[in-house]
Amino acid sequence: MAIKIIGTGRYVPEVIADNEDFAKIVDTSDEWITTRTGIKTRHITNGVLAFQMGAKASEQAIKRAGIEAEEIDMILATTVTPDCLTPSLACLVGQELGIESAACMDLNAACAGYVFALDVAQKYLDSGCAKTILIVSSEIITRMVDYSDRGTCVLFGDGAAATVVTKGEGLYSCVLKGKPQGAVKIFTKLPEPKNPFSDKPFDWGYNEMNEAPTGYMQMAGNDVYKFATVAMPEAVELAAEQAGLKVEDLDLIIPHQANIRIVQTAIKRLKLPAERFYINIQDFGNISSACIPLALSQLDEQGRLKKGDKICVVGFGAGLTYGASIFEW
Ligand code: ACO
Repeated sequence: MAIKIIGTGRYVPEVIADNEDFAKIVDTSDEWITTRTGIKTRHITNGVLAFQMGAKASEQAIKRAGIEAEEIDMILATTVTPDCLTPSLACLVGQELGIESAACMDLNAACAGYVFALDVAQKYLDSGCAKTILIVSSEIITRMVDYSDRGTCVLFGDGAAATVVTKGEGLYSCVLKGKPQGAVKIFTKLPEPKNPFSDKPFDWGYNEMNEAPTGYMQMAGNDVYKFATVAMPEAVELAAEQAGLKVEDLDLIIPHQANIRIVQTAIKRLKLPAERFYINIQDFGNISSACIPLALSQLDEQGRLKKGDKICVVGFGAGLTYGASIFEW
């Protein structure tokens, strides 16, 4: 069974930090960031929480879908940076939207979260358990950024995007994958449990994790880079094969926006024209699971998505997770 995206929306915070701003706080330069990553600016939240960003993006998506919020029977939120451990981001967004009744849950597959959520949505639509699903992806990555670490702080931004998904016609294929042995390559620790009756220390099983500070993202950038340059083309090829297509049959590929060089390597490996890939990393940096739906909302707004276009969304991220799905617009 295929899916149809009937509405898209996005919200990014007003405060924009450019590379020169970062050169004032860490030992870096516009030249280094631009050539190594492709990033020029990123948005940073200023008093707006993840659920509030998510609700703003959702309101736009619901309006564009031409439906009432009450028609949504499931809210699937993707995030690695929720506002609360509980309730879920999905519940908080639902509350903000004034929805009285909907199944709400969060999904964390890091930067690949949207691809995973789209497939979960497809399964619920196919089973008949849901008819109209709101996927809301909202990230405040700056919540876990160490602004003294030049290797990570320049890469990330905040923002949210939403899509309304229903049953559709045409193609649908999806490949979800992961390499959990790479879990230590990107992580952010929560505070360890406190036992008032014992002071036995916790052992994470890896020195990197034992020694890392709580609450700040740690990343083995080079290892993630190598993983991503292989994972991204592999996922696109597998999803195309599953759909009975060749990669050259795809009209548009929307990759996760982590580093322009990762996308350029994928373009070479897939032997596709660069124009088939949508890139907006220069404006937003890496917003984790919000990157792909944010790109979809821009393309939708610009009228660049035509009925029947074969679209491939492909993501990778902490975990390590990766996956790709193909659907028709
Ligand atoms: N400015 C100037 N120099 C810097 C900066 C900076 N902002 N950051 C690192 N450097 C330095 C390093 O210290 C190093 O210096 P040295 O040679 O003196 O030791 C040098 O630049 C080269 O560092 P590398 O880490 O080898 O640089 P690289 O070209 O690999 O780029 C980067 C680093 C951008 C992090 C890259 O590895 C990358 O994009 N990795 C993938 C990250 C990713 O995709 N993450 C996605 C998942 S995130 C998620 O799931 C939430």
